Amino acid sequence: MSVLLDQIRGAVVGRSPVVYLLSSEEERVMEALAGIAAENGDPPIRVWTCVNGLEGAPDPEATRDPVAAMAEAVGCQTPTFFVFKDLPPFLERPEVVRSLRHIYYSGREVEGRYVFLLAAELAIPESLRKEVQLIEVPPPDESEIAAQIERVCRENPGYVISTEALGEVILALKGMTETEIRHVVHRVAQHSHASKDELLEEIFTEKRNIVKKSGFLEFSPPRWDISGLGGLDNLKDWLNKRRHLFSREALAAGVPVPKGLLMMGVSGCGKSLAVKVISSLWQVPLFRLDMNLVFSGMYGTPEEAFHKALKTIESVAPAILWLDEIENALGIEEEGLKIDSHIFSAFLTWMQEKPPLIFIAATANRIQALPAEIIRKGRFDQVFFCDLPTEPERNDIFRIHLLKNSANPDDFDFKMLAVMTEGWNGAEIEQAVISARTEAYYEGRMFSQRDLSAAISKIVPLSETMEQQIKGIRSWAFSRATPASKYARRRG
Ligand SMILES: Nc1ncnc2c1ncn2[C@@H]1O[C@H](COP(=O)(O)OP(=O)(O)OP(=O)(O)O)[C@@H](O)[C@H]1O
Ligand SMILES: [Mg+2]
Repeated sequence: MSVLLDQIRGAVVGRSPVVYLLSSEEERVMEALAGIAAENGDPPIRVWTCVNGLEGAPDPEATRDPVAAMAEAVGCQTPTFFVFKDLPPFLERPEVVRSLRHIYYSGREVEGRYVFLLAAELAIPESLRKEVQLIEVPPPDESEIAAQIERVCRENPGYVISTEALGEVILALKGMTETEIRHVVHRVAQHSHASKDELLEEIFTEKRNIVKKSGFLEFSPPRWDISGLGGLDNLKDWLNKRRHLFSREALAAGVPVPKGLLMMGVSGCGKSLAVKVISSLWQVPLFRLDMNLVFSGMYGTPEEAFHKALKTIESVAPAILWLDEIENALGIEEEGLKIDSHIFSAFLTWMQEKPPLIFIAATANRIQALPAEIIRKGRFDQVFFCDLPTEPERNDIFRIHLLKNSANPDDFDFKMLAVMTEGWNGAEIEQAVISARTEAYYEGRMFSQRDLSAAISKIVPLSETMEQQIKGIRSWAFSRATPASKYARRRG
């Protein structure tokens, strides 16, 4: 049975005379109300809209004003479901608020009479909060999604989704509205041989479009294989062990879904790259939240914009939410002083209450700026520290970038490269390989060890220019985070 039906049933059983149904899915909610009415002796369902007035009134047009329509409802002594659809803008009028209060108090005396306020936005006046029961209508649950798929398959004979694909498809469709689900499945059903992957791709495209409308979330395509991330073996192990936890089987078995990961550390060591890898490895779409846009004022106050962003990401779960440079993103300044503590505390609360199918991947550079609350156990499943790569890790990174640049790693002297790049980060190694290739290409040949050595000698690594800062980061992280590398260094 669907969660939505259960929630409305709960309100009816609890005899709440006024129920606010927060949803943009009018059709779906009306169907659910019809279902509940059928279970309760089939009372009439009378709908009010600002255009048609109240259905079943002697003169519906005369009840376009909600005060008149509510007077009808107050006078009604028999079991009836009233559904008010366009009420939010009228709730600023004191007469409307007063009429709702009448409905509430008189409704307690009339068995079976309920007034539902159905709206896409939340607009309960402060003074009515006690009287009105709020139901935030959840997106279709698995049984409802399955029913929609079945319906589309019935309407498109010849289109079949295999039983083993069905689980993954249902999971991918979570968070979408009924109409969106129908559209996307219909579209794919036009090609009767569409494979599971094509269907999933179509669903992710649809989700990407939903998110695009919000403006500040950016979809990052799953194009980054874990083999392109050098070193960081502890981190990779952690990710590998969790790669199946977003599957339907794992969810059905009740295995806890990971909440989030915080990666902190030295610049250019692959933190952002690691986040992109998670999406490909787990096959869960990744969305980066652009906090500059949240703070820009283009989407209302930062609080409103941030809240909207979190709601949007909830609507496309399962998803990974990427917060890059969290210390800037959440308005945290050096020394732990907060510029915008509202956003920070809203974020912490949300992390505790967020739906389980959203994984947060956060990265941070100026880790000393992070307040203790955020690192405390329980918020993130794991806090990793990405240090400068050790010798075997640098070899790994060289190999990756040599292959990426069409060179044969066997032609290079790794021992020597490792010695020359002590203290380098991954980004600098990549830069050296690219610059060697570019120089050689100019001379019309493939690059060699000599070109690479020459390129290396021209680059001054960050660890030289920022030695003190890096030492500081290391000693700070030493006691607070797990090394992402399996070759953890000693302190200092
Ligand atoms: N461990 C690594 N393996 C392979 N490539 C790496 C690695 N670390 C860095 N790189 C290369 O350097 C680039 C920059 O790394 P990335 O942006 O992930 O670093 P970062 O830790 O997020 O840095 P910042 O703190 O400056 O944002 C990557 O796109 C990748 O090409
Ligand atoms: Mg980064």
